[in-house]
Amino acid sequence: MKVKRLLLLLLLICITCCRPAGGAARDRRSLQRRSWTSDGFDVEEVRLRQARQQLWNRTLQVVTIHRPPFIILKMATDGKTILDAQGFCFEMLNALKEKYGFRTELRLPYDGNWGKRLENGTWNGMVGMVNRSEVNLGVAGFTISQVREEGIDFTIPFYEEPSAILMPPPKPGSKLFAVVRPFSWGVSTTPWQ
Ligand SMILES: *[C@@H]1O[C@H](CO)[C@@H](O)[C@H](O)[C@H]1NC(C)=O
Ligand SMILES: *[C@@H]1O[C@H](CO)[C@@H](O)[C@H](O)[C@H]1NC(C)=O
Ligand SMILES: *[C@@H]1O[C@H](CO)[C@@H](O)[C@H](O)[C@H]1NC(C)=O
Repeated sequence: MKVKRLLLLLLLICITCCRPAGGAARDRRSLQRRSWTSDGFDVEEVRLRQARQQLWNRTLQVVTIHRPPFIILKMATDGKTILDAQGFCFEMLNALKEKYGFRTELRLPYDGNWGKRLENGTWNGMVGMVNRSEVNLGVAGFTISQVREEGIDFTIPFYEEPSAILMPPPKPGSKLFAVVRPFSWGVSTTPWQ
């Protein structure tokens, strides 16, 4: 028997949403999902110019969380101040910063969570902070889920984490009657009937 694979499409995604204060809908439209290409973020030229106008020289509030290798945060001894941020997600964020000319201020989620919907319909964690526009962006490895899509926007996924359930291989059976094993009982016993 083969190892059963559960391809949980754990799509780790960085930049969840861009919702600068004021004109949120407009900003959102201009940063609609595009695809990542070998040259970077494939945004049409017009959109690129619009987005640049909106983002140039602005400081965006960014919520992030330590999770190597995507996000590697260097913290001060107080455990709260972020001194330095590196990793795969930040390489992408830095490329965007260069392209659009914005700055960022980093924050940790107030409760250390990625974000799930609570019973009363509100969100906790980073998803909640983006949903309530307390920050402009969430930069982290997020699992894209249908539920979360109701509260925030994701960029398109750039990383897929295949998860698998492992099982021991079946034990080899006795070789004694191996020659008749492929046949059903009736067939294997026919010659002796
Ligand atoms: C960028 O923003 C800073 C502070 O918000 C301001 O002092 C500076 O003049 C701005 N630079 C440009 C080129 O707009
Ligand atoms: C929703 O529930 C959370 C946790 O139970 C609570 O902190 C929050 O204030 C509630 N929000 C509203 C709007 O009721
Ligand atoms: C926040 O999440 C709720 C769903 O939980 C959604 O109805 C609402 O539109 C979201 N807010 C924004 C600004 O997208």
